[in-house]
Amino acid sequence: MATARLVHLKAALHRRTWASSPAPPPALFRLPNIVVRAFSTTMSPPSKAIVYDEQGSPDAVCKVRELPPVPIKDNDVCVRMLAAPINPSDVNRIEGVYPVRPPVPAIGGYEGVGEVHAVGPAVKGLGPGDWVIPSPPSSGTWQTYVVKEQSVWHRIDKSTPMEYAATITVNPLTALRMLEDFVDLKSGDAVVQNGATSIVGQCIIQLARVRGIHSINIIRDRAGSDEVKQKLKELGADEVFTESQLDVKNVKSLLADIPEPALGFNCVGGNAASLVLKFLKYGGTMVTYGGMSKKPITVSTSSFIFKDLSLRGFWLQKWMSSEKAKECRDMIDYLLSLTRSGELKYEMELCPFDQFPTALDKALGKLGSQPKQVIKF
Ligand SMILES: NC(=O)c1ccc[n+]([C@@H]2O[C@H](COP(=O)([O-])OP(=O)(O)OC[C@H]3O[C@@H](n4cnc5c(N)ncnc54)[C@H](OP(=O)(O)O)[C@@H]3O)[C@@H](O)[C@H]2O)c1
Repeated sequence: MATARLVHLKAALHRRTWASSPAPPPALFRLPNIVVRAFSTTMSPPSKAIVYDEQGSPDAVCKVRELPPVPIKDNDVCVRMLAAPINPSDVNRIEGVYPVRPPVPAIGGYEGVGEVHAVGPAVKGLGPGDWVIPSPPSSGTWQTYVVKEQSVWHRIDKSTPMEYAATITVNPLTALRMLEDFVDLKSGDAVVQNGATSIVGQCIIQLARVRGIHSINIIRDRAGSDEVKQKLKELGADEVFTESQLDVKNVKSLLADIPEPALGFNCVGGNAASLVLKFLKYGGTMVTYGGMSKKPITVSTSSFIFKDLSLRGFWLQKWMSSEKAKECRDMIDYLLSLTRSGELKYEMELCPFDQFPTALDKALGKLGSQPKQVIKF
């Protein structure tokens, strides 16, 4: 969706002085003893944003830019952003490898939380101080002030921890939908997943647990894997294995009382996807929703003939069609309530906006395995 600021950004990019000139001051005129700032109620503050002019490696193309104020139209809401995560799909959009992406020049980010700063005269039911998230999410959350129509924003409970409010849609909602939409699971059943340390993975463990469903979890080999296993078990994981531990003839012999899973989740590909398939029972389904290793999935002929496995895919952006928008907000409110009650938690690291390059390096995996990076504005 082309935002007002993005349109402005495009226009501004053609002005040579744009990046270095401060925004023009609001026009002033004087009445006896008072100063009236013409337009001050209809213009946003200037915004500081992470902008990319071309697609490419995010650490090469992302720049911090000062953007001039934009008008706050009748139905617009101007939001002061509080926090926004760096998700793998944000990186893919900037790289130009995500199927749906904003045209360049663009502002990074897709989800986040902010506080209403000002509203247009026709806006009802939202006011300064309210906390809102873009729902469904939309591009351009990596900036200090976002102006979009009221319909984009969903007001949320302000007692929600900020970092959870900022990250509640893309990953937790994916976990929730994938547990619901593919196999009719009952309490006592089991699921298997790779990429268990991801936010989606941590959510799957806990949302499964809430429903009495066991989880078998696969993580990458690493130094300190015992500590990681312990953390996932504290979230409710029944079993956690490193990939190398599963280098055995019969992985199912490693399971004690947990039933064979009918549903598996894959966000890694390569060997890690084959391991998910090995755990599945006859007629089981593996849902692929990510490809972190960038390696293809290889499926043995016998998996089809002798196990009749099904391979499916999930894409939240497709799922969140406009008819689902209302339902989607109810689900988000449910997930937010779980974060407030402590039933849903995941590891994150808040990073001040001025340290964005460090957060980006961590999100790009340059500094090894790191918690989810959440920019704090
Ligand atoms: N299809 C959809 O609609 C949808 C929606 C949401 C998310 N996703 C996808 O879900 C996946 C997880 O997203 P997230 O935000 O939850 O992740 P995250 O919290 O940012 O964590 C990244 C995960 O990827 C793993 N990883 C990173 N590089 C890897 C590599 N080269 N090989 C194997 N594993 C690697 C990390 O493992 P370590 O802990 O070992 O570093 C960690 O588990 C991503 O692929 C994302 O694109 C898809």
